[in-house]
Amino acid sequence: MSKEIMLTGDRPTGKLHLGHYVGSLRTRFEIQETGEYENFIMIADQQALTDNARNPEKIRKSLVEVTLDYLAVGIDPAKTTIFVQSQIPELNELTMHYLNLVTVSRLERNPTIKEEIKLRGFNTSIPAGFLVYPVSQTADITAFKAKKIPVGEDQLPMIEQSREIVRSFNSIYGDILVEPEALISNSGCARLPGVDGKAKMSKSLGNAIYLSDEADVITEKVMSMYTDPNHIKVSDPGEVDNNPVFIYLDAFGKDKKYIEELKEHYKQGGLGDVKVKRYLNDVLQAELEPIRNRRKEFEKDKELIYKILLDGSNKARMTASQTLKEVRDAIGINYFNV
Ligand code: TRP
Repeated sequence: MSKEIMLTGDRPTGKLHLGHYVGSLRTRFEIQETGEYENFIMIADQQALTDNARNPEKIRKSLVEVTLDYLAVGIDPAKTTIFVQSQIPELNELTMHYLNLVTVSRLERNPTIKEEIKLRGFNTSIPAGFLVYPVSQTADITAFKAKKIPVGEDQLPMIEQSREIVRSFNSIYGDILVEPEALISNSGCARLPGVDGKAKMSKSLGNAIYLSDEADVITEKVMSMYTDPNHIKVSDPGEVDNNPVFIYLDAFGKDKKYIEELKEHYKQGGLGDVKVKRYLNDVLQAELEPIRNRRKEFEKDKELIYKILLDGSNKARMTASQTLKEVRDAIGINYFNV
């Protein structure tokens, strides 16, 4: 029996940060190491262009950065095919076919899209390509008949929309496509807050710790992290539940017993923020140092990075073109049987 397919991806709009790591990168690595799935990771440059059409240079640069981040966290091209979305033209044709199976109002109802439109201030000037990117994402997933999609929580509406398109396609044209499932990480927390306490860590909010940050930068960010604003004096009892410092400790700390003790102490009063932050800093440094060092090794050989992406894209394209052929056959536009 052939293995089930795991596929996921990222938009190359900058370096990856701890939010990506907790939300999905760590799970991808674990899945890769089980050997249970055939693994694909896609760099979604075309999706990134849907709201960066006037700034393609940013996407070009980030392609290498994101690949370095993958390799740094242990994604291994021998076990996981890493490929570039724009190099698989088959995905665009699949997108066109799927577009006929969704309504504009359904696209406008997608909660993640709605939030992103607000965040980007598009108002009524929404690029059409942006509105339909969930359909293109469905093409990314279905071209590989992927079943397991490790993603952060914000991607759930995308996977739901993909499932609807798959069901619709299969009911009209026959059982060709595979219905995907989101795989939400249970390693600590699904969505990491920013160092400023905002709900989401993100590059555009400027509240991220990057996988490539140097040790002193990490320390600086940790020591100035937002904590419980009512915990003013060391002796004051503090709040741990919505406190980023403790959320990070839950997500990264290995000594769960010690963390529980810290929490109890903090709640009772008598434990200062600085002490907790110093401990968090140690925890993060231990996690990020090997990642940063591996990244530096790979940085020395940019040609190798492009070779990994080219080989991966060539391989991915073979699978996608096979699926496209099945889709064309199913729709019945294979007039000349070639
Ligand atoms: N939308 C995803 C993100 O912003 C990236 C993405 C593109 C993706 N295609 C995908 C994720 C296919 C999973 C599967 O992070």
